[in-house]
This record gives sequence, C-alpha cells and structure tokens, in this order.
Amino acid sequence: MYLRWYWTLSLPLPMVRYTLSSHRPATLPMSTTIEKRSILDLELEDLEGVGPARAKKMREAGIGSVIQLATTSAEELAIETGWDKDAAASVIMSAQKLLRESNFLDKEFMTGDQVLEKRRAIRRCSTGSSKLDELLLGGIETHAITEFFGEFGSGKSQLCHTLCVMARQPAPTGLDGDSIWIDTEGTFRPERIDQIARARGLDPDDVLRHIHVAKVHNSSHLELIVKELGKYIEQFNAKLVVVDSVISLHRAEFAGRGTLADRQQRLNQLMHKLTRISEVYGIATIITNQVQSTPDTFFGDPTRPAGGNVIGHASTYRIYLRKAGSDRVAKIIDSPYHAYGDVRFTVNEKGVDNIDDGSGSGAAAGKTTARTKKKTSGKDGEAAATEDDNDKTAEGDI
Ligand SMILES: Nc1ncnc2c1ncn2[C@@H]1O[C@H](COP(=O)(O)OP(=O)(O)OP(=O)(O)O)[C@@H](O)[C@H]1O
Ligand SMILES: [Mg+2]
Repeated sequence: MYLRWYWTLSLPLPMVRYTLSSHRPATLPMSTTIEKRSILDLELEDLEGVGPARAKKMREAGIGSVIQLATTSAEELAIETGWDKDAAASVIMSAQKLLRESNFLDKEFMTGDQVLEKRRAIRRCSTGSSKLDELLLGGIETHAITEFFGEFGSGKSQLCHTLCVMARQPAPTGLDGDSIWIDTEGTFRPERIDQIARARGLDPDDVLRHIHVAKVHNSSHLELIVKELGKYIEQFNAKLVVVDSVISLHRAEFAGRGTLADRQQRLNQLMHKLTRISEVYGIATIITNQVQSTPDTFFGDPTRPAGGNVIGHASTYRIYLRKAGSDRVAKIIDSPYHAYGDVRFTVNEKGVDNIDDGSGSGAAAGKTTARTKKKTSGKDGEAAATEDDNDKTAEGDI
C-alpha cells in the first residue's frame, strides 16, 4: 500500500520526480471495479450516492478528494454540509469502500500473517540516534502517532528538528519525503535545520526546501490546519507531520475548570483527525506534549503528560523525555508492542545523537533497558509515569 501511495501521489507533484524511479511498482495493481489510473484520479462523483450537487457541496467544504473524504468524521461532514449524520456517514463509508476496492486501504478483515506482512513493510524514520532508534525498534513508525512529552528543555523540539532532516533522506534512514511542521510555539528554527544537516554531511538547502512550516496562532487555527491536513499532505507529498506542541494553545485559551469539557472535546476531535490521517495517508505523525505536575505523587517523578486520556489514548506510542545532566533520557511509557525501556541520548550540533563515551554502550551511554509493565518504584528518581499511572489521569486533573 505504501509503495502505491508514493506512485499515485507523486504523479501530479513536480517536487517528487525522484520518487518515481525508486517507488514505482513493476505492475500497477488495479481493482477490476476501478478503471481509473490512480487513486488521485478518483472523483467524488465516482462514489455511490454522490452526484454533482453533493460533490459540489463537499468541495465547498474543503473536501476535494476521495482520500480526504475518507479521513473526515461523520459529525464534521454533517456540520460542514448541513446533511444529517446518517447521510454523511454513508458517503464516508462509500469513500472508504472505494479505497478498499482499489487496495489503497486494508480490507475489513485480514489474517494475522497478512497483518504481519503489512507491518514488516511499514517504513520508519531515524531519530538521529541509533540507540534511540533501537529502543523504538527501528525508528519512528509511519501510519501512527508518536507522542513525546517532557519538561522544557528536555529535547522535544530538538528531536522534531532532527526528524525533519532525517525524513528527507532515503530509506532505511528516512522516508524520502517532505515534512510538515505545525508550529504552535514559534520554535521552528531554519538555522538549526541548517546546522543539523551540515553536521550530518547533508545539503541544508535541499532539506529546508522540503520542510513546510505553518505558524499557528490560536487553537481554532490549529483545528483548521489539521482539518485540511490531507490536502497539504497531498500537495507537498509529505511523509512526516510534526505538531510542536499539540496542546499549548488549547491549554492557554481554555483556562479554568468551566471550559475543560469543551477543551477536551475539541482536542479529542483534533487527535482523532490526526489518527485517521496518519493511517490513511501512511505518514509518521509526531506530537509533542507538555507536562503537568501531580503534587500528590509521593515516589518518583511527579510529572505527567498534559491533556489527559484524550491525548494518551489517541497516541500510538508515548515517550517521556527528561534531562539527565547534560544528556537526555527517553523512556517508552505506552506502546502496543514495545517493551518498557529507556535509553540515553544527547543533543548536539547533529541534533539528536548517541552519547559519545567511546564505547557507545552502558546504562549511562545509551543502553536500552527492557522493563516489565510493572509500575516503577521511582526510587531511581526516573519517571514513574507508567501505563498504570496514565490510566489514573482523570480528565478533570489535567
Ligand atoms: N545547537 C545546539 N547544540 C547543542 N544543544 C542544543 C542546541 N540547540 C539546543 N540545544 C539543547 O536543546 C535544549 C532545548 O531543547 P528543546 O528546545 O528541544 O526543548 P523542549 O523539550 O522542546 O522544551 P519546551 O517545552 O520549552 O518546548 C537546550 O536547552 C539545549 O540544551
Ligand atoms: Mg519545544
């Protein structure tokens, strides 16, 4: 599916000429029911139950392609078009059906070995540190959301900068594609990208040309950008989306208990949209998150990710970053298949990098420590935020 995605989406985009030779499949898999040349050629009018009037309405709502429609929720479509929710849901289902028939989306049921085969083909992007990549079993995964949370200066934005540089590189290091950076904190620094690329022997101008930055000013603006993200991913042929940070604007604007429910509902919609986009477009999505302090914690680190379960449940992988002297520690807090573990890395002119201690191993030098799912005692002073802890994060305590 991923290879096909490159092929189909690279055709109308001048910036991706190089992807044609490397990713074009030998034969073009086409469903018997789809005579169209590529997924992008599919028109909204090709959908069951959609005529010119409905298609026009959707285009006016900013939904211009079948893939964009497939990432839209029924609620969103109903609000945008004025249709009832059932009608909206049925149009979305026909979009998903059409994409399934054209082998772009997975079938409703797959056998375990088919899922395994598909997962083996999933591409990953290096973080810049091979030790951190090892912890993540090969780097940042596509088709998923990876959340990094941690206090100020823990390296979240540095990691995002490094990932944008790496994503431009060919496989297996990168994703051979562009990056979209949604900047809510004004932290994107082209000078830093330049430095990281140069230190890694890469062409900084080429890297910079393939990063698309959107400076976001308020939470509604962020919601709008995410709503239209599919369009931008298609336009830029992006393979990585960074949201740095996902919560700061909502947190600042929705202050006080009275606004909490509204804030959480809006964050929930935002996160679900990001999830659908990551899956359907097969991109790697990185979100950064702030921390909050829980003063009632008696043992270990009292920091918890902000945003409560809304963020926690939508993130496929959740990683805690913290400072450790001049180094950083990354610790897997939640994952469907990674062992709980942590690793040390550093931030230098190359961005995120392995610690240079001569040996390149050892607990103090980037060694990955497998942990059980058991709650940590916190006696080592590390983060005590485990799966159990996160489950305790009540929506009212964020
Ligand atoms: N060019 C550089 N060389 C080495 N280290 C750097 C460089 N630039 C930044 N750093 C390190 O990165 C730290 C900042 O990290 P970063 O901006 O990623 O923090 P953050 O986790 O995003 O914090 P916040 O929550 O405030 O956004 C600096 O304190 C510094 O230690
Ligand atoms: Mg930051």
